[in-house]
Amino acid sequence: MIEIEINGKVIECENGERIISVCDREDIPVPRFCYHKNLSIAANCRMCLVVVDGNPKPQPACSTTAYAGMKLSTNNQKVKDSQQAVMEFLLINHPLDCPICDQGGECELQDVAINYGSNKTFFSEGKRVMSDSDIGPLIQTEMTRCIHCTRCVRFGDEIAGLSEMGALGRGENLSITAFLKTSIDSELSGNMIDVCPVGALASKPFRYSVRSWEMTTHKSIARHDLTGSSLNIQTFKHQVYRISAGENESINQSWISDRDRFSYTSLNCKNRVLKPKIKVEGVWQEVDWKLALEFASKGIKNNLVLGNNDNQLATLSDSTATLEELYLLKKLTNSIGSKNCEYRLNISDLSTYSYLDSTTKISKIENFKEIIIIGGNPRFAEPMLNHRIRKAFLSSAKIKVIIENDCNFNYDTKKIITKVTYFADEIDKLNLSENSLIVLGNEINNSKNISKINLAVQNSGAKILNISNSGNTIAARKINFTTDNIYNKNSYILFNLAKQDLTNKLMKSIDNADFVVALNTFAGMEGVADVILPIAGLYETSGTHMNIDEIPQSFEASIKAPNEVKPGWKVVKVLADMLEVKGFEFIDSISVRNSALNFDKIIDKVTEQEDITDFEVIEQNTYKTHYNSDEFTRNSYDLQQTVIAKNTTLGGENVE
Ligand code: SF4
Ligand code: SF4
Ligand code: FES
Repeated sequence: MIEIEINGKVIECENGERIISVCDREDIPVPRFCYHKNLSIAANCRMCLVVVDGNPKPQPACSTTAYAGMKLSTNNQKVKDSQQAVMEFLLINHPLDCPICDQGGECELQDVAINYGSNKTFFSEGKRVMSDSDIGPLIQTEMTRCIHCTRCVRFGDEIAGLSEMGALGRGENLSITAFLKTSIDSELSGNMIDVCPVGALASKPFRYSVRSWEMTTHKSIARHDLTGSSLNIQTFKHQVYRISAGENESINQSWISDRDRFSYTSLNCKNRVLKPKIKVEGVWQEVDWKLALEFASKGIKNNLVLGNNDNQLATLSDSTATLEELYLLKKLTNSIGSKNCEYRLNISDLSTYSYLDSTTKISKIENFKEIIIIGGNPRFAEPMLNHRIRKAFLSSAKIKVIIENDCNFNYDTKKIITKVTYFADEIDKLNLSENSLIVLGNEINNSKNISKINLAVQNSGAKILNISNSGNTIAARKINFTTDNIYNKNSYILFNLAKQDLTNKLMKSIDNADFVVALNTFAGMEGVADVILPIAGLYETSGTHMNIDEIPQSFEASIKAPNEVKPGWKVVKVLADMLEVKGFEFIDSISVRNSALNFDKIIDKVTEQEDITDFEVIEQNTYKTHYNSDEFTRNSYDLQQTVIAKNTTLGGENVE
């Protein structure tokens, strides 16, 4: 540690630390536009100028580093004059129409202009106007407002792997634009909205709906993938209007995927189930909760036998369910005599299935020098983990891919394209150590050879990142929400599933069942269910998500569920009460969580299986495309308009 002096105050910091970071830590205000703590330093806006003793000219705090004995000022007259001069230049071509700008009230330029600018200008010529380009259904451009900070360009280049966004021209003709292509087709594109300090890049689904100061911000956790990114949910009058990235340096830093950012639009779609309904003699009737729950419990009871109900009932859940929902579903199922709870609905053959725990943490991924991706594209399965792999690549990691279906990665790879059945042989040929990382993708789920692949991975000596299942599946595994007995039951309880989530074999079993209870946020299961109970969607319920680092992150409901919709955990609890099973005396979701978190760690043993050399694809419909991963992405109109949603085959990997 060294000592430096800022505005006469002695401060300890690291030798070589950037002055702007020291000031941020010490709460010393320094205005900035181009600086972003998770992007490279551009030092092009000159807004962060400070005066360092011994230097004749002011220095940018974002690119100047600390040394022992350094003395500087962030607020003397020279600094103030510099700040005013920079603001004057920035505003020369900037429109002065904050009241009609979507960024008004949360604009860095507006704030800095008020705090550091001058109320005089010497510029009386006409202002420059830039034309806007349509860069897709998620981001609205207003390039006249752009101040050329290049944060969006650096984000594209350094994080998303997008080279299309760049600066064209010079001087007054300089423009930031998406050249080569018309739209920004990235699974992380929405972060450009967050990094843009002005109203040049705004959220298209949100734009001009509510003013920023009218909304309330709630903290929440993303549930689509294994990362568990922090989210800021902005609501107004019991409706989610916008989502931006929350900060969590060891998990999502300050980025989120477009799936996490825009899937909230599904909550307002016409496809919501808003009232309980039952099917009587083939005709659906909307009924009150009491009647629906009585109907559901009676139907389940009619199919139960005394004692063991393993052959009578199975409970299947989507992976966006919270820990609390999964726990109560399991407890209910077990209490009425069945062990059959399952979330791994994309596994071709549960009897041969084996699972390897991940042995690395999210924040360590970028440190590996060799990464082998087996059977999948993390870019679409786990965008936030893929960005860490990309960081490793940018720090010179070599990346190999063993995959059945060729696809595009956003880093250079050496690919071996082979059938899943030969994955294990290819892994055996690699000379790996614990400095290597193996990333296991979802293609392995479609192979009867999964145990052989897992054994090869385990014996390779490499660290493991298992992303073969997504969402809240770590929580599901922890509470043992697993079975290999899900077919041909008399009754099913289905939690937030759609037909697309089920293999043909499973769909046939459900079709043939005598009684099916579906707890759903969206319509779609009318063809197979006997009763549909409307449950709260994302951000409408409290709960817990467990990420791949096994960190349980709990969240409160950000809004109340609409109409007669109830939180899933409450519906399961009341259903249990109606079925007169004991042990459901929970008063809130926190008490459910505390009970659920008392699990023992479950470790599936990886055992050698018979060598299966003939590749057997049991089902082809077990892959899910990126924006078809769950009911929330499917029902988000805005996500479905993207090139990624439209131009997909397996997993959305074929996006150019
Ligand atoms: Fe005002 Fe900011 Fe919009 Fe510019 S970008 S018009 S300063 S709110
Ligand atoms: Fe900066 Fe926004 Fe312009 Fe990009 S669009 S350069 S983020 S002001
Ligand atoms: Fe330092 Fe832009 S923030 S030069």
